[in-house]
Amino acid sequence: MYNLLKGKKGIIFGALDEKSIAWKVAERAHEEGAEFVLTNAPIALRMGQLSELAEKTGAQIIPADATSVEDLTNLVEKATEILGGKLDFVLHSIGMSVNVRKGKAYTDPKYDFTTKGWDVSAVSFHKTMNVLYNKNAMNEWGSIVALTYMAAQRVFPDYNDMADNKAYLESIARSFGYFFGRDHKVRVNTISQSPTPTTAGQGVKGFDGFISYAEKMSPLGNATALECADYTITLFSDLTKKVTLQNLFHDGGFSNMGVSDQVMEHFIEE
Ligand SMILES: NC(=O)c1ccc[n+]([C@@H]2O[C@H](COP(=O)([O-])OP(=O)(O)OC[C@H]3O[C@@H](n4cnc5c(N)ncnc54)[C@H](O)[C@@H]3O)[C@@H](O)[C@H]2O)c1
Repeated sequence: MYNLLKGKKGIIFGALDEKSIAWKVAERAHEEGAEFVLTNAPIALRMGQLSELAEKTGAQIIPADATSVEDLTNLVEKATEILGGKLDFVLHSIGMSVNVRKGKAYTDPKYDFTTKGWDVSAVSFHKTMNVLYNKNAMNEWGSIVALTYMAAQRVFPDYNDMADNKAYLESIARSFGYFFGRDHKVRVNTISQSPTPTTAGQGVKGFDGFISYAEKMSPLGNATALECADYTITLFSDLTKKVTLQNLFHDGGFSNMGVSDQVMEHFIEE
């Protein structure tokens, strides 16, 4: 360990179980010397195992539905009180499509579901930053990160309306990141992660085929949840102070590939 986050304070959204990317970020942040508050939607707290993680990392849990500005306001007020000052880092690790859950096709969604998924997966990031910005709750040179997927740029049919939600999320990172940088010297970035076997990931139809295709296409192979956590820690550290408004691919090289030998093997007739 490198003490990269010694003395830093933050909020980590979205740890549901030990497979969650946010769970790994919390474990790594703790190892690097950070203090933080854990949060998730009240319903997820009832189902999940967050208290186990809280105990392990010495963190307190504050429930918040990330679509509720009221909940987010309470979260930021309590977190700064518990941690004894402003925040240095925030992780937004939240995604959910009701259309995907209910098996609705992209070409025939239920638009109430579309709106709900958009609010949870994308607008919640705007709401979170709105509260942090207007309450002046971030320290200078702080860092805010959200997680995204390459379906924001390229077509992955089974990713459904989450593709549109991720495009919106990445745009919010740039737009809000401008104001946060200009006014508070806070950086805002998204990490575009490989397919990863978590509850949210495995909800995508055909996930097993999808993950092994990405593995064969990527020269370094798929990035794991733990590797994503390591990368996130660098973005929270003082070593990346001038990186902002970026969508950063953390995918073993997948995003720049056309085809790989391993994939070609399936199509060459001897
Ligand atoms: N797993 C993948 O393949 C993959 C790939 C790229 C990006 N991502 C992104 O990583 C992030 C984390 O997902 P994960 O893969 O760790 O899965 P996960 O299911 O462990 O995490 C998703 C989290 O979102 C939370 N959430 C849902 N609705 C909420 C609400 N209203 N308020 C607050 N929290 C809410 C859930 O409770 C859960 O903890 C998501 O943004 C996801 O889209 C995942």
